[in-house]
Amino acid sequence: ALIGKGEHRHYMLKEIFEQPQVIGDTLASFFNPTAQTISMPDFPFDLATIPRITIVACGTSFYAGLVAKYWIEQYARIGVEIDVASEFRYREAPMEKGGLSLFISQSGETADTLAALRYAKSQDQHIMSIVNVPESSMERESHAVLHTHAGPEIGVASTKAFTTQLTVLACFSIALAKAKGAIDPTLEARLCKSIAEVPARVTEILNHDESLRDIAHSVAEARDVLYLGRGASFPIAMEGALKLKEISYIHAEGYAAGEMKHGPIALIDESVPVIVLAPSDSNFEKTASNTQEVVARGGRVIFMADKQGCEKMADHSMASVAMPDVEPFVAPILYSIPVQLLAYHVAVHKGTDVDQPRNLAKSVTVE
Ligand code: G6P
Repeated sequence: ALIGKGEHRHYMLKEIFEQPQVIGDTLASFFNPTAQTISMPDFPFDLATIPRITIVACGTSFYAGLVAKYWIEQYARIGVEIDVASEFRYREAPMEKGGLSLFISQSGETADTLAALRYAKSQDQHIMSIVNVPESSMERESHAVLHTHAGPEIGVASTKAFTTQLTVLACFSIALAKAKGAIDPTLEARLCKSIAEVPARVTEILNHDESLRDIAHSVAEARDVLYLGRGASFPIAMEGALKLKEISYIHAEGYAAGEMKHGPIALIDESVPVIVLAPSDSNFEKTASNTQEVVARGGRVIFMADKQGCEKMADHSMASVAMPDVEPFVAPILYSIPVQLLAYHVAVHKGTDVDQPRNLAKSVTVE
C-alpha cells in the first residue's frame, strides 16, 4: 500500500505522532485488559530457568536493549550482557549453555545483528528476536519472536519502532520477573497499570510539540549538545543524542550524568546546551546535583522532568519540559518523545533532509 505523510510535513513527524496508536497496538498483543496482566506466547524454553541474558542490536535498537538491561536486572534479577552487533559478532564471547540471546531489530535484516544471532546459535543459546518487519531473516532463524506493531517506518531516524521495542521489552521484563518469582503481586500490578497507561501519557506529551519547537530554535545554533541521564534514562540520553546527530548533523553526546565529571564537563560553557532527563525516581537528586554542576560552569540546561522536578530546578534551567508524573518503570518510553521532537525541530529549523539524512540508510544489510 502507498503510505502517505497525511497532514504531516515529514514521515518522521507523522511517525512520532503515531506513537500512542502503535504503542497501544503493540501492547494489545501482550496485555490482558480484563485481568490487567501481561501474557506472553508459549516459548520453546522455560523463562524461570534462564541463567543469563545476552542482548545484541545496532543503532537505536541497541539503546532499546540497553533500557531492557536496566529493567531485567532490577525487576527480574537476571544478569544481562549487552553489546553492539558489530563488536559482538567478532569477539568470541563465551556463552553459558541454555542462556537466552535476544536480538532487537526494526528490519530484522541488519547484517551485523544477523551474524551475531548465528554466532549465539552456534553457542547453544535460545534465540529470541524482537522485530518489526514480519517474516524477516531474523524471525526465520529465531526460536521465538516477539513483534512490534509499529507498522512501516519510512523515516530513516527510528522513532515509533524504538518506543514499540521498549513496549515489548517492558512486557517481557514483567513476564520474566513473574516467571522468576522476583516481584510480588502488588509491584506486578503497579507495573502493569503503568504500562497500560503509556499511550495516554504519550498523547499528553505530544502536546508539548510547540514548546519543544521553540526550545529547538535555541539549540539549532550549537556546535555540541550534551544529553545526560542516570539509570534507565542514560540510554534515552544516548538515543536523544543519536537522533540529533542523525538528522541535524550537530555533534551530540549522551552521557551517564555521574560520569560527566570524568570528561565532558570540560566541554561546558555558555554555548553548550545540556539536555537533562530527570524523571522522579531514586536517581533524581543525584541527577539534579549533576545539573547544578553544569549550571555552575555556564551550561544552558534544558531540564526534562515531572512538574515537581521542574519546579525544583526552575532557577537553574534555561528551559524545562514538564513531563507527566509516572511510575519510574515507564519513564524511558515517555522521555523518548521529547528528545525525538527536539531533534526533529532542530533539523527542520536547519533545513536538513529530515526523512533521508545524508550518508545513512534505513536498513544496513551489508557489513
Ligand atoms: C540503521 C538505521 C537506524 C537503525 C539501525 C538498526 O542505522 O538508520 O535507524 O536503528 O540501522 O536497524 P534495525 O533494523 O536492525 O533496527
